[in-house]
Parts: sequence; structure tokens; C-alpha cells
Amino acid sequence: MQIDVIADGELPSGAVLEVRDLVRGAWPFLFDETDTGGLWWLAELEPVHVVATEGDRVVGYCAVIRTSVVLAHERRDILGLHGVVVRDAHRGRGCGQAIVATATKLIRESSLPAMLFCEPQLIAFYERAGWESHADSVTFVGTEASPQTVEADPTFPEVRMMLFSTQTRDTDEWREKRLYVGGSTW
Ligand SMILES: CC(C)(COP(=O)(O)OP(=O)(O)OC[C@H]1O[C@@H](n2cnc3c(N)ncnc32)[C@H](O)[C@@H]1OP(=O)(O)O)[C@@H](O)C(=O)NCCC(=O)NCCS
Repeated sequence: MQIDVIADGELPSGAVLEVRDLVRGAWPFLFDETDTGGLWWLAELEPVHVVATEGDRVVGYCAVIRTSVVLAHERRDILGLHGVVVRDAHRGRGCGQAIVATATKLIRESSLPAMLFCEPQLIAFYERAGWESHADSVTFVGTEASPQTVEADPTFPEVRMMLFSTQTRDTDEWREKRLYVGGSTW
């Protein structure tokens, strides 16, 4: 298995189609009438693609994205880990850990805090790569006027996990203060 870090715009068109299929399998709701082709949902997020291949085939994928959130009413730039997915037949063989490790290394090279959202059963999977669980924190999503909490979503509860560079001085505020991440998590 080979893992490549690929700048946005440099992902070959065949790989784009394979990534689309992988992501569609895991998150089909992304592909409703708003689908405008390619990796459209990443367009505004300055993605860096982490792609695992075996031969010519994409077997695993995730992206490091750049976005901003509102912490205690103040807008902050952050990085996000998005779309971690491994082809069914290749699961359970370390591919997921390998792509997350590569993405985590990239994130550590930045001075920005980073965030991901996952199902509670995947906390240990991300902790292994150095992420910390903020399962006791509350994250608001949706419209600013009427936000919902991510952790209490009855249909799809998610846990926030974070990764801090040594340059982040106050990590506690990310646990304690009100965090609004925008229209949806990633
Ligand atoms: C999550 C996912 C990326 C893991 O990929 P993978 O290649 O199977 O992962 P690895 O082989 O590197 O690691 C597997 C480890 O993670 C754990 N793990 C993987 N998926 C898990 C799940 N859904 N629930 C609990 N543990 C899980 C395994 O138990 C295993 O632990 P072990 O080594 O102690 O046995 C893959 O299952 C997948 O694509 N899932 C669908 C998309 C998804 O949910 N992505 C996560 C978005 S936050």
C-alpha cells in the first residue's frame, strides 16, 4: 500500500471518481441534488488529500481541510480531518490508521488547532493517532439563531476530537467555552 499527500487540483481525475465512490458509500447524503460533480463539497475548504492506493486502485482516503469556527463568540481558523474512509475489502488491515497518521503528521506541521467529529465507538481509533476526545464538551451546529448540539443529536450523535500544536496556549478553552462550527460538521 502506498500513501500519497496530494494538493487540491492535482488529484488525477480517475482518483477523484474513486474517492467520490468511496465517500458516497459512507456518506450517501452528500450526493443529493446539491452534487455538482468532482469533490464539490470540499471546494471551499482548501483540502489536502491523503490517498492510499494498492496498484492503481484507491483503497483509502481522508482530507485535511481548513475552515473556521466560533469559540466564545470569536472566529478562529482551524484545520479539520474529514472523510476518513477505507474500501470495505481493505478494512481491518491498518489502512485507516495509516492515512490518519499521515494526515495527523501534516496537521502537526501547522500551528492551528484541529478538529474532527466521529461516532463514539471510533474514539480509540483516533486516540491512537494522538487525538484527544472532547466527548464531555458541547458543540453547536446549524443556524446561529437556532443551533443544535452535535453530541445530543438523536439520529447521529458525534464526538468532537481535537489535536493541538505546541503553539496553542489555552487548550482548556476549547473544552469549556461555547463552540459553534457552522451549518454542519465535516
Ligand atoms: C473507520 C475506518 C476508516 C477504519 O479503517 P480500517 O482500515 O479498518 O482501520 P485500521 O485497520 O487501521 O484500524 C482498525 C482498528 O480500528 C477499529 N475500528 C475500525 N472501525 C471501527 C468501528 N466502526 N467501530 C469500532 N472500532 C473500529 C478496529 O477495531 C481496529 O482496532 P484493532 O486494531 O484494535 O483491532 C473504516 O472502518 C471505514 O471506512 N469506515 C466507514 C467510514 C467511517 O465511518 N469513517 C470514520 C469517519 S469519522
